[in-house]
Amino acid sequence: MTIQWFPGHMTRARRQIEAKLKLIDMVVELLDARLPLSSRNPMIDEILQNKPRLIILNKADLADPVITDAWVQYFKDQGHEVLTLDAASGQGTREIPERAKVLLKEQRDKRAAKGMNQRAIRALIVGIPNVGKSTLTNRLAGKSIAATGDRPGVTKGQQWIKVGTEMELLDTPGILWPKFEDQGVGYRLAVTGAIREEILNVEDVAYFGTKYICEHYWDRLAERFELDEPPQDMDNPNDVVEIMEAIGRKRGCLMSGGRVDLEKASKVILRELRAGKLGRISMERP
Ligand code: G4P
Repeated sequence: MTIQWFPGHMTRARRQIEAKLKLIDMVVELLDARLPLSSRNPMIDEILQNKPRLIILNKADLADPVITDAWVQYFKDQGHEVLTLDAASGQGTREIPERAKVLLKEQRDKRAAKGMNQRAIRALIVGIPNVGKSTLTNRLAGKSIAATGDRPGVTKGQQWIKVGTEMELLDTPGILWPKFEDQGVGYRLAVTGAIREEILNVEDVAYFGTKYICEHYWDRLAERFELDEPPQDMDNPNDVVEIMEAIGRKRGCLMSGGRVDLEKASKVILRELRAGKLGRISMERP
């Protein structure tokens, strides 16, 4: 689901998260492993106000593993605890409570030194729409309970979801807006399906995706669509469009007269890319 974010929504979303920060020990910041910076809220450091944070690169099953490793290092170098995850299959979820304990070790040691009981760690998941917040919540809860709407401004009674005995999650995740200031960010989000391409022009989105794949993963594109030659000049739009047309011809996206229907071809390219038919692809490198 796509939200149109306006300044009022952003302020409200921010206030909602700030109110929840008082209830929790730590934040789980969910990013898309394929585009960790583009899927990151631009004001996240300010909003989270030094709350201990575990960064999770989700959808790692769709991302290029070599690039994901580089991103893990990137965030570690910035002093963050970071984990990769495939929330859809559950791969990696079990590590979350363990990492949470590492993150909060100092606080927990202090409580122990004072002879206080350890209570469950309380956490809030935050992230932009579609990054996998509900999927992760359901995974951690072990059952399907978090059918949340992506509606800024909608509040429900707060409930805690138990994750084993050592962790509790606020049932409604914090929904954040992505970066908008850079056009490339919008295209990267649209290529991966994080925002609907209808907001942008589908052919433009597919063009952006095709150009990127030609530059970084040509062999996979060539194999999948039986293409011979990469675009002669990547910066010449006609050369990239020729590749899109060749793909369209392979997939039978033709109009009367035999010309390629570029809109249909664009939809095919995006569908196959998002479904992982071109293999694991990252749209952004550190
Ligand atoms: P949100 O709450 O942050 O808005 O995101 P949500 O959990 O609804 O997830 C958005 C989409 O991303 C869902 O797909 C979900 O299945 C998928 N997803 C979440 N985590 C992962 C992951 O780690 N790997 C992969 N491959 N997909 C993930 P959908 O198309 O909206 O629904 P459906 O395909 O589950 O029916």
